[in-house]
Amino acid sequence: PKRFALVPAAGIGSRMGGERPKQYLTLLGRPLIQHSLSVLCATPLIDKVFVVLSVADREWGRYDWSTLGPKLTPLFCGGASRADSVLGGLRAISNQTEQSDWVLVHDAARPCLAPWHVEKLVREVANEEVGGLLAVPVADTLKLADVQQHVIRTVPRDSLWQAQTPQMFRYVMLRRALEAAREVTDEASAIEAAGLHPRLVQGDATNLKVTYPLDLHLAEWILRNREE
Ligand code: CTP
Ligand code: MG
Repeated sequence: PKRFALVPAAGIGSRMGGERPKQYLTLLGRPLIQHSLSVLCATPLIDKVFVVLSVADREWGRYDWSTLGPKLTPLFCGGASRADSVLGGLRAISNQTEQSDWVLVHDAARPCLAPWHVEKLVREVANEEVGGLLAVPVADTLKLADVQQHVIRTVPRDSLWQAQTPQMFRYVMLRRALEAAREVTDEASAIEAAGLHPRLVQGDATNLKVTYPLDLHLAEWILRNREE
């Protein structure tokens, strides 16, 4: 089976603010999205890289993507939610995929993806029945609160993980799960709703999602220190 990357990049970045969606903000002189696309295009573990863009995207065409090589294909089929964008992408590539091919869904908003993240995920999920995702153990103490913001209780964090991307599942299983689930914030949730149990692969905190302006500074620091 082949492995395809699918990168949802059709969001508007409302929590970041600013005039351009965050995937196009400049990070170390390049559009933010280019950092993880470069990693996905460069690794021999991935056969093709599809980017799901908004039909209203006005930014993609302003850059030269040919330096990333022939694996990269933009799809202008983004939806109203992240799940809709991923499902739209899966539908758009159906004629290029076999049922048992793997799809690695990776947020455009995670620019600090490193080659070892992809390598570890692929290695540890290869023999899994269902698939899996990168994740990190929760570090903070967690409180369950009522609507008045009074603590109900502390939630033991020992078995809690923060989900990241890439999330790696078989094409047919992921598509079926998303068609059935829809309102989910990641692929694993859709798979779980189908009664299945994705494998967690421990990544690290450098693979952060850029959501707020502070995250952009953290991402810049991480990438800069990696380049040495
Ligand atoms: N995404 C997408 N289509 C959507 C919404 C989100 O492809 N309709 C993508 C984003 O571009 C991003 C990833 O899903 O790469 C993770 O979503 P998030 O961090 O929530 O990005 P935005 O939705 O753009 O940001 P916000 O929620 O702050 O508006
Ligand atoms: Mg969002």
